[in-house]
Amino acid sequence: MQTRFWKPSQLLETDPSIEEAAQLLNDRHVVAFPTETVYGLGADATNVEAVQRIFEAKGRPSDNPLIVHVADIHQVEKLAQNIPDRAYRLMEAFWPGPLTLVLESNGTAAENVTAGLSTIGIRMPDHPLALALLRASGKPLAAPSANRSGRPSPTDAAHVWQDLEGRVAGILDGGATGVGVESTVLDCTSDTPVILRPGGVTKEDLEKILPIVDVDSALKDKQEHPRSPGMKYTHYAPEAPLWLVKGDDEFFIEQLTQLKEEGHRVGVIASTELAEKLNHDRVSLCGSRVRLNEVAGRLYAVLREFKKAEVDVILCETFPETGVGAAIMNRLTKASVHILTQG
Ligand code: TXA
Ligand code: MG
Repeated sequence: MQTRFWKPSQLLETDPSIEEAAQLLNDRHVVAFPTETVYGLGADATNVEAVQRIFEAKGRPSDNPLIVHVADIHQVEKLAQNIPDRAYRLMEAFWPGPLTLVLESNGTAAENVTAGLSTIGIRMPDHPLALALLRASGKPLAAPSANRSGRPSPTDAAHVWQDLEGRVAGILDGGATGVGVESTVLDCTSDTPVILRPGGVTKEDLEKILPIVDVDSALKDKQEHPRSPGMKYTHYAPEAPLWLVKGDDEFFIEQLTQLKEEGHRVGVIASTELAEKLNHDRVSLCGSRVRLNEVAGRLYAVLREFKKAEVDVILCETFPETGVGAAIMNRLTKASVHILTQG
């Protein structure tokens, strides 16, 4: 398949590329587009055949439901039923923005969007190109992250091209995304909403609007976290095995020194603060550790940076799990095969 690549001008609504992309979506093709979190791979959420193409392009297992993107609240009311008042309050506070609300589905979306569940995840992205495309197509768009399954999510159109060139009808280039980690997925079907996936809107942010928000017990379960080296990578995986280092900077330096002495070619992902203390040439900087938004924004790009021809192992600093740090550590833990913890 020939993949179109558009870099629209600033005059979004009138740019011919938006019309072209919308036309492809209406013809049941898939098109990648930027959002404020990561690039999404979009298809008409009401058409089974179109949605099927998302799974094929990504190589994604079809038992994982997709998030539906909308341009206005009217579209939410066409897809969901019995929408609780707390959900409206959250839409008002955080939309457009990185918050996905899981609501009761009314069955309008294609069955492969919801993977047979009675609920549906919906969000309004905060990106002018995404909103222009949604308006031009007039359709709600199902859109998972626009990466090959198992790879780090794309935060730049070049990442999408690397993964999906020849597999999708088009890619809209909107430059680097801002937030860097995916939206927060919040189940609003119970009286107390539950965070199913930490993301760009933090628990602290949500609790300014609603008194209590729970965190899914699967996210708290640390048992599944320290996985053994060599375990098959499944999520966000860089080319070389990723090891997380939990401890102070001296502990990090010890681990790095030891691996180098053993003859390993080590790539390092570090904050500017840690990097200043390292005497090492393969360091990828992920921003300042006191500005976790910066780290979130760089995270997936640095995970893509090291190539397996250059390094045997990647050592990565860990971050506090407050604010967007919860999302950063959730993704890093999934991407890692091993955790080195200070005794
Ligand atoms: O920021 C984002 O959310 C990005 C951009 C493109 O919008 N999209 C994204 O989609 O990350 P995806 O498909 O990669 O992630 C969907 C997540 C999965 O964790 C899935 O299990 C959850 O949302 N999800 C979707 N619908 C759900 C539902 N009905 N019930 C529970 N979880 C749901
Ligand atoms: Mg994804």
